[in-house]
Amino acid sequence: MLKDQDRIFTNIYGMHERTLAGARARGHWDGTADIIKKGRDWIIDQMKASGLRGRGGAGFPTGLKWSFMPKESDGRPAYLVINADESEPGTCKDREIMRHDPHTLIEGALIASFAMQAHTCYIYIRGEYIREREALQAAIDEAYDAGLLGKNAAKSGWDFDLFLHHGAGAYICGEETALIESLEGKKGMPRMKPPFPAGAGLYGCPTTVNNVESIAVVPTILRRGPEWFAGFGRPNNAGTKLFAISGHVNNPCVVEEAMSISFEELIEKHCGGIRGGWDNLLAVIPGGSSVPCVRGEKMRDAIMDFDYLRGELGSGLGTAAVIVMDKQTDIVKAIWRLSKFYKHESCGQCTPCREGTGWMMRVMERLVKGEANPEEIDMLWDVTKQVEGHTICALGDAAAWPIQGLIRNFRDVIEDRIKAQKTGRVSAVAAE
Ligand code: NAI
Ligand code: SF4
Repeated sequence: MLKDQDRIFTNIYGMHERTLAGARARGHWDGTADIIKKGRDWIIDQMKASGLRGRGGAGFPTGLKWSFMPKESDGRPAYLVINADESEPGTCKDREIMRHDPHTLIEGALIASFAMQAHTCYIYIRGEYIREREALQAAIDEAYDAGLLGKNAAKSGWDFDLFLHHGAGAYICGEETALIESLEGKKGMPRMKPPFPAGAGLYGCPTTVNNVESIAVVPTILRRGPEWFAGFGRPNNAGTKLFAISGHVNNPCVVEEAMSISFEELIEKHCGGIRGGWDNLLAVIPGGSSVPCVRGEKMRDAIMDFDYLRGELGSGLGTAAVIVMDKQTDIVKAIWRLSKFYKHESCGQCTPCREGTGWMMRVMERLVKGEANPEEIDMLWDVTKQVEGHTICALGDAAAWPIQGLIRNFRDVIEDRIKAQKTGRVSAVAAE
């Protein structure tokens, strides 16, 4: 279990002051100018050596992403955009950073922006996060008043402005290029990639989009050293990580732990175990709703990191939003509910996603209601394969994968349900 002295987020439960004075007392904003004065290359090399992989879900190496930004300016300004549009079902970790430890994010924004030669950073915050934006704005105002932002920010010699922009409730605006479109004042619709934002992002300028947690851990990594951070977890899966555990555990929580902790330890140490005991565990979605669910018995010994969950279990760490479902859960209905979510959130600009999410939801609805024929299971699988990999952004994949996970892991449950309903042994369950 991670020791208290190794936690980056020392106020994740809001037990201490979230003010600048409180943050300074906990070691934040300590030697920020000295870090910046070591230069851009040093910072990026340290970030690469730390092994940090993006915490927004995709796990792309952060230092590598930063190195894609042009070394020399061609006259266009560079931007850092922080993705605080946390909307992945089950995911509520960035929320805790913004409302209880906002200075970790602000200090990280300054250092990261300097490393990418950006004088301006936008934080795009989910519209529903009202308390969080109040807390963050108060912290930004405090940082301006203290000279940590603005001209010669934190006496680093770097001029730096930080703006908070509110989203308006569309899930798709968490996709980095849709977020950029929205920030530019347009409809939040994803762009084709390439070009990636580092080549042409906000206002057509070099831009890096990073998740809140990815930026908030930067100052501590640079203060304590990349070896310290890389010392947690397995190779290629380094660091500490915020896990958001919800569903049928005794104490749902958000907790910072070492990457590669076992699922059993995570649940026993921090959540007081599974509701009704381990024998009552049906399924787990280990990384937010976009990754496939896994059968409970395969999860107990699972290692909670990118490579194990994808390589061994065909799922993923995603945002590390761990959704636990016990045997009282109607798993078919739970996945149908997710398919309804993705259908609703599709921006509609590409056909496989616009039409496919509707098809998938409607067949799922037939499964839930017991109106489906057994051959519709394979038909549904085929539809997911028509959508997966054939869309502009990852929302199409995200809609397909939970259903694939259901069919792969719980085909017996779906078949039994169809049989039972055909023979009138159980009444149809309404999808509402
Ligand atoms: P992605 O794998 O396409 O990209 C990840 C990042 O790496 C992006 O910033 C992208 O620009 C960069 N990148 C990838 N290949 C690159 C290349 N060749 N050159 C330059 N840059 C490159 O994944 P995406 O679509 O950004 O994110 C999908 C993930 O987002 C899903 O796995 C899901 O878990 C997560 N997600 C998280 C949400 C949240 O609330 N935190 C909401 C919805 C999805
Ligand atoms: Fe829009 Fe879906 Fe296409 Fe993404 S995959 S661009 S959400 S229609």
